[in-house]
Amino acid sequence: EAWRQERRDFTGEMVLVTAGGTREPIDPVRFIGNRSSGRMGYAVAEAAKRRGARVVLISAPTTLPCPAGVEVEQVVSVEDMRAAVMAQLNEATVVVMAAAVSDYRVKDVADRKMKREGAQAISLELAGTVDILREVVGRRRDGTLVVGFAAETEDVVANGRGKLERKGVDAVVVNDVSKEGIGFDSEQNAGSFLTKDGTVEFPVMSKVEMAERILDEVLKLRVGTAH
Ligand code: CTP
Ligand code: CA
Repeated sequence: EAWRQERRDFTGEMVLVTAGGTREPIDPVRFIGNRSSGRMGYAVAEAAKRRGARVVLISAPTTLPCPAGVEVEQVVSVEDMRAAVMAQLNEATVVVMAAAVSDYRVKDVADRKMKREGAQAISLELAGTVDILREVVGRRRDGTLVVGFAAETEDVVANGRGKLERKGVDAVVVNDVSKEGIGFDSEQNAGSFLTKDGTVEFPVMSKVEMAERILDEVLKLRVGTAH
């Protein structure tokens, strides 16, 4: 819509965004990944930039072009993403964690390509990764708003509310990834924006439009805070 073009309501904010799906190496040529396209996070980064923010995008691998005017740092693994996020956190006034972050990493990464010969079946031992979002909440400066994402396949809103409370974030955007045509690998999304004060439903819309709606809700959270 035309009126959106004029809004510079994120002037003075530094929006730190994570996007894409992290990759955990198995050996030099293989990894454990996920279906995240990065579109939702990139859309948030672009929208925040257009609305006047300084934007730093920490991006796990995607096929998307770098948004104009956005400072992009490419990362691969959870540990890379964690380091990049922590290095920027002091400057951030808003953090939007849209990346699909691996919950596990391979415990012993092979330094040479694993060979098929002689192995009918193998097991990979996995170790848990750090929860970057939790660490962000623990280390943020006063007034920094933190928004998490949750992709769920069942009990969508209840699971999202659980994450809101457990992780101590200001808001969680939940979406149902069991539905075809929205969420992972899609241009479209739908979901709910959860805060301690209530739920805002986002009907099916483009990820570009949802990014705007998310930022609208973030600004509402600013009202009454000291920033
Ligand atoms: N997240 C993170 N670091 C991790 C895992 C998740 O920062 N190691 C962030 C994601 O970027 C997202 C939020 O936490 O913003 C929720 O991710 P999700 O995978 O839904 O939460 P988990 O706590 O990993 O729960 P689940 O068991 O459902 O995967
Ligand atoms: Ca997870």
